[in-house]
Amino acid sequence: MLDRFNREIYYLRISVTDRCNLRCTYCMPEAGIKLKSHQEILSFEEIEELVKTAVRLGFYKFRLTGGEPLVRRGIVQLVQKIAQINGVKTLAMTTNGLLLDKYAKELKAAGLSRLNISLDSLKPDRYKEITRGGDLNQVLAGIKAAGEAGFTKTKLNVVIIDGFNEDEKENLKEFAADNNMKVRFIKKMDLKSGDYYGVEGGDGGNCSICNRLRVTADGKIRSCLFSDDEINLRQEGFEAGLKKAIANKPKKGHKSLKREMIQIGG
Ligand code: 5AD
Ligand code: SF4
Repeated sequence: MLDRFNREIYYLRISVTDRCNLRCTYCMPEAGIKLKSHQEILSFEEIEELVKTAVRLGFYKFRLTGGEPLVRRGIVQLVQKIAQINGVKTLAMTTNGLLLDKYAKELKAAGLSRLNISLDSLKPDRYKEITRGGDLNQVLAGIKAAGEAGFTKTKLNVVIIDGFNEDEKENLKEFAADNNMKVRFIKKMDLKSGDYYGVEGGDGGNCSICNRLRVTADGKIRSCLFSDDEINLRQEGFEAGLKKAIANKPKKGHKSLKREMIQIGG
């Protein structure tokens, strides 16, 4: 469907959980966030119905995000269900990679098209610092497992933080090339101050060609990362909600005060 600014909206990012097994500094506050209850979180049945409805409205690219999508129980079965829906051309996932060692094979078999793996440093201490405790070796094992499972066109998401990891750009480029991945450098954004940037190696951050909507784990559609406007899917109904979100999608973003990145899925 076209929006008011003639942008074709065909890409839906669905956050399947607000939980994560890491606590990256740019993604969540030190004290954590208030987690949603099981009842608030969309069920698998609801997510499937949402995708079916979206396909009818012309959506064909879907991405599962979090939090960390792989910590949601039954995630492989959800992937399988969505991948089988007629009209779903691409089903991707953004993950921190920690659990890929365990799930890469099953995800591939379930029909997942592609992976984006987040990794901001190849130095174990830095990785630990930025993720508040993560083990670099576990991600490296996950990346290896993804390749072995047959995933291709995997993207490496690197958040660049001024004065922290820009010195690793060349290393990360090389690492990505060695592992058959494309690297995307994403300058650290700040929802509250409204600082956002184009993504080096991707389309994000370029409002004039924005093609996406986001759905939070608790079923609110956000038509812009940098706007607090949300539509409650359960209240509005899936079709009406999606249509309304497209109709209301702003020309460009300003700022967003009400949620942290972890609650939106990046
Ligand atoms: N700035 C830029 N990107 C972010 N992400 C999360 N928080 C931020 C932020 N503050 C993105 C990263 C990460 C994905 C899960 O979300 O790309 O890899
Ligand atoms: Fe978790 Fe990803 Fe946020 Fe890091 S960026 S805390 S891995 S959701």
